[in-house]
Amino acid sequence: MAPSTKVLPLVITDKAEMREWSRSARRQGKTIGLVPTMGFLHEGHLSLVLEARRRADVVVVSVYVNPGQFAPSEDLSTYPSDFEGDLSKLRAVPGGVDVVFHPHDLYDYGQREVGGGVGGGGGDSGGNGSVSCLEEKSLGHETWVRVDRLEKGMCGKSRPVFFRGVATVVTKLFNIVEPDVGVFGKKDYQQWRIIRRLVRDLDFSIQVIGSEVVRDHDGLALSSRNVHLSPEEREKALSISRSLSRAKSATEKGQVDCQNLKDSVIQAIQEAGGKIDYAEIVDQESLESVEEIRSPVVFCVATWFGKVRLIDNIEIDV
Ligand code: PAJ
Repeated sequence: MAPSTKVLPLVITDKAEMREWSRSARRQGKTIGLVPTMGFLHEGHLSLVLEARRRADVVVVSVYVNPGQFAPSEDLSTYPSDFEGDLSKLRAVPGGVDVVFHPHDLYDYGQREVGGGVGGGGGDSGGNGSVSCLEEKSLGHETWVRVDRLEKGMCGKSRPVFFRGVATVVTKLFNIVEPDVGVFGKKDYQQWRIIRRLVRDLDFSIQVIGSEVVRDHDGLALSSRNVHLSPEEREKALSISRSLSRAKSATEKGQVDCQNLKDSVIQAIQEAGGKIDYAEIVDQESLESVEEIRSPVVFCVATWFGKVRLIDNIEIDV
């Protein structure tokens, strides 16, 4: 049956219904690809959908803005959304998408315990005194998946509840959708590595694919948050991808000293008006910092332009 001839995608909002749909697809001998997203889809997300299409018989895209990965001080309330727009973009994907899983609340377990919000209102569930928007709502969810070492550096430093929130919601999605393949973007390099590790460590029978970063015509990495950049900030933010490309070229000409490479990138971004959160050159697998480039690394950067935090990276294979 050619997927493009079906009227798709089917929108499922209920966890049990989603699981039943997947199990029925599996009974028909079909493999399932899952692309988790928070919506406000762009070409970067759609490239993951195409990758899932190539690797599985049916494709599920989840659209869910996960309160468990946002700290109360972060941008949960202003995170952009356009569900109807997302659906029409997904309809236009060659080969189509079979299901959009769009739960209202993934942490609704039916019976709420009164006052059951563990860590709610200021406990230390974040591991260092931080809580997420989920605990703020006191929903009683108290089980978290943590990938101890990989989540500590880079984005984990400035966003201490972020990766346990991501690892937990992705685990929940894996358990609900039961996919054979999960597709993630290398744009969020640390996230991708963390998901791969959790799948290995917890024996999920899921193949995790990392898909290349999709960029705008001028090099800016696509991100749902780019919509919040003013035209001037957007222009200045090009300093990120440009300086990372220059750093990669420098390594191709023999530069191996990481401090030197980091200094040039930091300087270029600061001169453009960006505020550096981090600039790190790390081993592609372990995400440990390196001083000299002698094996495959990834140069990861997080910066603020105005109120928008942007991340980008470039792989350097030697
Ligand atoms: P979101 O930011 O919506 O991203 C969903 C997926 O799209 C992630 O795997 C991300 O790496 C990928 N992606 C985003 N921009 C991309 C780009 N320019 N090129 C390639 N891939 C890109 O990441 C999340 O949502 C959430 O943390 C989630 C995994 C859904 C858990 O809540």
